[in-house]
Amino acid sequence: MYKCVVLLVLVTLQGSVIWSACDVCQSNGAACINQTSYNLCFGSSMPNTAQNFTCTDGLVCTDQPIICFQRSETPASCGDTDSCGQCAPNYVFACTSRSTFAFCFGSTKPTNVTGSCPAGYFCDASTQEICVIKTTDDSIICHLDEPSVV
Ligand SMILES: *[C@@H]1O[C@H](CO)[C@@H](O)[C@H](O)[C@H]1NC(C)=O
Ligand SMILES: *[C@@H]1O[C@H](CO)[C@@H](O)[C@H](O)[C@H]1NC(C)=O
Ligand SMILES: *[C@@H]1O[C@H](CO)[C@@H](O)[C@H](O)[C@H]1NC(C)=O
Repeated sequence: MYKCVVLLVLVTLQGSVIWSACDVCQSNGAACINQTSYNLCFGSSMPNTAQNFTCTDGLVCTDQPIICFQRSETPASCGDTDSCGQCAPNYVFACTSRSTFAFCFGSTKPTNVTGSCPAGYFCDASTQEICVIKTTDDSIICHLDEPSVV
């Protein structure tokens, strides 16, 4: 019985990856301004905007304890949403949020045939697999928590 409870908790934790948004104080004490820059919160719930910090080359602002993390390991907490709902470059599907997608069926506009990635996966418009666990340098991620209205 005890083992079952532990297992359940583990499974639940794994499925509850909480993605943050721009300008929101995260558990690591940083609020991402955009994909590569952040403000510190200094224990407050509001970002301190007096100083802007920028991650070093190749790193992006994340909710990981070390704040700036390799882009290939963790998608940025916040960033541009230019690719959201865009069928290009594959015209097969468009990511409508970090974890949802809509099929394009060769069109430039997504259709209303939509789907969700399994827990722990996110939508990557650069890959035929649609939903992936790890990003790559070429990843095209839609930085939205909720599906964009298309
Ligand atoms: C991110 O924000 C910082 C601070 O405002 C700015 O200097 C930088 O150009 C921005 N980067 C991008 C990719 O928008
Ligand atoms: C930080 O970045 C924001 C947004 O780009 C900008 O408006 C602000 O002036 C910057 N602050 C400092 C201290 O550079
Ligand atoms: C999708 O759009 C088509 C055509 O407009 C419509 O007939 C269909 O009911 C819609 N399906 C859903 C799931 O909204």
